[in-house]
Amino acid sequence: MEFDFEDKDLPQAYKLLAGLVTPRPIAWITTVDADGNVNAAPFSFFNVFGSRPPIIGVAPGDRAPGIPKDTARNIRRTGCFVVNLANEALAEAMVACAASLPSGESELATVNLETAPSATIRAPRIASAPVSLECTEWSTLEIGRNRLVIGVVKRLHVQDGILDPESLHVNLDAYRPIGRMHGPDGYTKTREFFTIARPD
Ligand SMILES: Cc1cc2nc3c(=O)[nH]c(=O)nc-3n(C[C@H](O)[C@H](O)[C@H](O)COP(=O)(O)O)c2cc1C
Repeated sequence: MEFDFEDKDLPQAYKLLAGLVTPRPIAWITTVDADGNVNAAPFSFFNVFGSRPPIIGVAPGDRAPGIPKDTARNIRRTGCFVVNLANEALAEAMVACAASLPSGESELATVNLETAPSATIRAPRIASAPVSLECTEWSTLEIGRNRLVIGVVKRLHVQDGILDPESLHVNLDAYRPIGRMHGPDGYTKTREFFTIARPD
């Protein structure tokens, strides 16, 4: 099958691309608005793009043409955000944070999760998240109804037990990250880990 995104198949682009480019990591982003109210929402159009400096990209689509989601609006106004990563235990709370609450109301309160202060930025992190990346906004590109936020990671928090302190090797049983799959409600666990040696 082939699809022509330059013309007639564009309405299917979300379903096709989000359904096939899988599994995707999920950025569970915490931001603050101008009054300091905390906002939390998940975004799977997300990945890490480099390490020198460490950069990430995340793409909140606009609610309507020219009307950003709270996350994108808060990042623009405050210049900072935290990417929290979810594990199996936090998956339901992460999805619940996709609810559209009135601006200024915190999704984290509805799932009884606490925040912890960040070390370098105003936006707090989710205290129980296994991994959190404190980020500053490098730039936000507006491409049609997508906003592609590029962030520089200033500090990384990792819960005890996930990394070996000497080798920094990841203990997958302790971490148990999840990924976004196809369909409106599709996710995957990441327990079937395997290795393939690289060529020299
Ligand atoms: C797992 C998951 C992944 C999502 N990924 C995205 C995404 O990449 N881009 C997007 O615009 N919305 C995405 N959403 C929807 C947003 O989370 C939702 O619109 C949310 O209400 C935005 O909140 P905000 O207005 O507080 O920023 C996703 C939802 C879920 C449950």
